[in-house]
Amino acid sequence: MVKILGIAGSPRQNGNTSLLLEEALKGARSAGATINKIVVCNRDINPCLGCGWCRKSGTCQQEDAMEKVYNLTLTSHGIILAAPIYFNSLNAQTKALIDRHQCVWARKELLKEEITDPRTRHARRGLFLSTAGADDPRVFDGALKVVELFFQVLDVKYFQRLLFFRMEEKGAVKNHPTALKDAFAAGEQMVVEIMRSLGETVD
Ligand SMILES: Cc1cc2nc3c(=O)[nH]c(=O)nc-3n(C[C@H](O)[C@H](O)[C@H](O)COP(=O)(O)O)c2cc1C
Repeated sequence: MVKILGIAGSPRQNGNTSLLLEEALKGARSAGATINKIVVCNRDINPCLGCGWCRKSGTCQQEDAMEKVYNLTLTSHGIILAAPIYFNSLNAQTKALIDRHQCVWARKELLKEEITDPRTRHARRGLFLSTAGADDPRVFDGALKVVELFFQVLDVKYFQRLLFFRMEEKGAVKNHPTALKDAFAAGEQMVVEIMRSLGETVD
C-alpha cells in the first residue's frame, strides 16, 4: 500500500494551500493510497535551537510533536507539502518543521546512517503546492530552494510543483480555472508513479 503524507503548512484554515492539499489528497486516495495529514499549526512544533546535539546523536533533544512527524516523513512513500509564501519564503510554522529535520540531515550526512528504507527509497516522491498574493511568479524562488533541500534530505525526488500567484484572498484559488483540478491530478499521478516505481501493477 502506498502511503502519502500531506503537510498543511498554513495557519489560515481552509485557505488556498489547504484547499489545494485537500484536492491533491483526494487524487492520491482515488489512486489507492492511504493518507496521513499533518496540520502544522495544530501541532506543538518548536523551532530548531541550533544546539548541535543532533550532530553527534542524530536525534533532537526537544520533546514535542516532531517525533511523530519524523516517523511519517521518513516512512511515507510520497510527501505533499502545501504552504503559502510569507515574505518571499515559506511561512514560519512550515519552516520550523523543515528546520527540525536538521537531525535527519545529521544522521544522513554526518553519521552516514540510512534514514529511509533502501528497498523503497527509489520510489519516494514529493509534491509542493504553494500560493502567493503578488502578481509575480518569482515570488516562489526562495521557497523553492527550501523545499528542494527538504526533499533532498528526505531522499525524496521532486515529482511536481504547483504554484499559483495573484492569490491574496482566502479561497481565491477556487476562482482559478484549473488549480483544484491540477492539484487532484497531481496527487493521483504521483501515486501512480510511486506504484510503478515500486513495481506494482497499475490499471
Ligand atoms: C504574513 C504574510 C506575509 C505574506 N508575504 C507575502 C509575500 O512575500 N509575497 C506574496 O506574494 N504574498 C505574500 N502573502 C500573501 C499569501 O502568500 C497569500 O495570501 C497566500 O495565498 C496565502 O495562502 P493560504 O490561504 O494557504 O494561507 C503574505 C501573507 C501573509 C499573511
